[in-house]
Amino acid sequence: MEEIRKFVEGEYKKPTSKYGYAHYEGHFIPVVNYSTELAKEKNADAEIVEISAWLHDISSIIYGRENHHITRAEISEKKLKELNYSEEKIELIKKCILNYRGSINNSRESIEEQIIAEADTMSAFDNIEGLFQVDFLWEDLNQKEARKLIREKLIRKYNQLSEEGKKLIKSKYDAVILLLGEKMLTEKSKIKNFLCFPQGEL
Ligand SMILES: [Fe+2]
Repeated sequence: MEEIRKFVEGEYKKPTSKYGYAHYEGHFIPVVNYSTELAKEKNADAEIVEISAWLHDISSIIYGRENHHITRAEISEKKLKELNYSEEKIELIKKCILNYRGSINNSRESIEEQIIAEADTMSAFDNIEGLFQVDFLWEDLNQKEARKLIREKLIRKYNQLSEEGKKLIKSKYDAVILLLGEKMLTEKSKIKNFLCFPQGEL
């Protein structure tokens, strides 16, 4: 397992990496941690889950976001063969890697595939700054638009989770939904704002 983690970390550290180290900490580590927790809760194969979590986005680091999902399965297969994993395990891991994208409710054959999809969704709650960065830089949204959109996105993500996933993320979900909710515009602050902007530009 340590060899696989080092392989992924090594790819992040290369100058040719498409993502910075912040993405490693903000996405890969949470996906691995949530997958591991879900595997315990759901009695899944912990080894298949953890390896799949480490490798699930490997092609994005090496080649960027736009590349086809097949690439990540090929890269993973090559690495796992080098490390002498059995054909049977490699096939199970490839399925997790190939099928995690899309709605969580998509039909997936194994509980391990389901867990990778769910952990990938849950990782958003550990990378709120990354969500804002995407909306500012790539979607060109202003602060108010981004705040509203991200709040809605996180509600949708939470509602897709299983009961186990919801339980694991509940405190983070409650906190971020509160923080991205209505701003505190009390009557007092409205009056104060009005005095600053006599034309009523609140
Ligand atoms: Fe991912």
